[in-house]
Amino acid sequence: MTKPEAFEPSRLTAADMDAEVLATYPVEAFLSKDYLAAEKQQLWPKIWQMVERESDLPNPGDWMTYDVADESIIVLRKEDGTLKAFHNVCPHRGRQLVSVPDMLPGKVHDVRGSNRRSFICGFHGWTFDLDGQNSYILDPQDWQNKLTAEMTCLSPVQVDTWGGYIYVTMDPDAVPLKEWMGRAGEILGHFELEKMHYKWRQWAIYDCNWKTAIEAFLEPYHVAGTHTQLLAYGNYYALSKQYGLHSVSSYDTRDARFAMSESAGTTRAGKGDDARLSTYELIKENYETVNYSASTETLVNAASRLVDELPEGTPAQEVIAHWMASARKDDAARGVAWPDVPPAIMAEAGLAWGLFPNQNILHGVTFALCYRVRPYGDDPNKCVFESYALERFPEGEVPETQWTYADPVGELWGSVLAQDFSNMQFVQKGMKSSGFRGPLPNPHQEQKVINLHRNLANFMGGRGAPTRLDIG
Ligand code: FES
Ligand SMILES: [Fe+2]
Repeated sequence: MTKPEAFEPSRLTAADMDAEVLATYPVEAFLSKDYLAAEKQQLWPKIWQMVERESDLPNPGDWMTYDVADESIIVLRKEDGTLKAFHNVCPHRGRQLVSVPDMLPGKVHDVRGSNRRSFICGFHGWTFDLDGQNSYILDPQDWQNKLTAEMTCLSPVQVDTWGGYIYVTMDPDAVPLKEWMGRAGEILGHFELEKMHYKWRQWAIYDCNWKTAIEAFLEPYHVAGTHTQLLAYGNYYALSKQYGLHSVSSYDTRDARFAMSESAGTTRAGKGDDARLSTYELIKENYETVNYSASTETLVNAASRLVDELPEGTPAQEVIAHWMASARKDDAARGVAWPDVPPAIMAEAGLAWGLFPNQNILHGVTFALCYRVRPYGDDPNKCVFESYALERFPEGEVPETQWTYADPVGELWGSVLAQDFSNMQFVQKGMKSSGFRGPLPNPHQEQKVINLHRNLANFMGGRGAPTRLDIG
């Protein structure tokens, strides 16, 4: 696997990113069919990528398919409780072992089932056990008994877990997942995502490239322009920072009143003179307009009591500390334990992580709002867009959810996400203009976007690499 830092000297380095150099990158990666075809060879088969939450395959014999570009993979849980993954193709004449129709709005998201003991190919009946070994071939003597186990087994795919997610890589030489996740994985590890469960999960086929879609959620620089109504509740000056393959964005301290560890993430004071009120107004507005995610009922309720529980004039930092302590107590009373995230980690963890290449996780101590995008067919102007909310629930109260197709409208996603959607297809169109001189990403606030292209180029043989704008 290509090493993340193996850049040619002419390309942007991690140090360049940290120095916030001015950079641009070509739009080919968003628009070109040829680039999309190259991704099938150079990107998707080479990376660790998230398949699903582990809790979706709880029992031995549970299985599902995961498709990306032209690749289809079967992931299953074996009798001994471990996970196993294979390319979804029969080694005889190449039929998909499990028929996976194209993802269809309202119909197919993936194919899954339970109680599997074997997979039988529908074409000529070759059969495979849950280890991928061939257990039945009709008339093997016709091959003069020269077929070996290596020739007739399913092609294995590496599988591992992180944060309650199932990850796979098709690259047998891939670095271990822990190494792939790096410091980003360590920091997010403190939030114990594995103890969270789906609150809702929705998907759509969207009219833009997968990168256009994920980039709409990577940076908070767009909040003032896109989510103008939120300016009434808070300031949204942001910073972003590369962590090798991955990157983080945080709220920055344009306003000194927000200079506290909690200010980096979603649990922070709002704008206004009375922090007791503004904190509640900010969190309530966020929660209700982001489809009841990016916070929890507990946090909103605890914030609603601030005005009764604290005297007027309580400094913002004390308001936040009180809010967190009382929400933590409320959650404990209903059986939801909070992880102890050290303050230094809390500050470094910021607001949201872009996990290379196609995931975004906006995390909190008891919740996460997440996105994942994939290409759709051979059209660079389309993608599969998925968003889901995770939350810590009391035992026995985890809601039943499944992937639901939802047209990208406010009634189904919340008004804030609908505002994000309203940009995506028009960015895709706009980038095709002969009058577009190329992106001018904000080096401080939109570094996650630059870092995505920096890392993509590394897999794509240098195609699409960001270049410095401030040197000849
Ligand atoms: S293609 Fe699968 S048994 Fe022939
Ligand atoms: Fe947004």
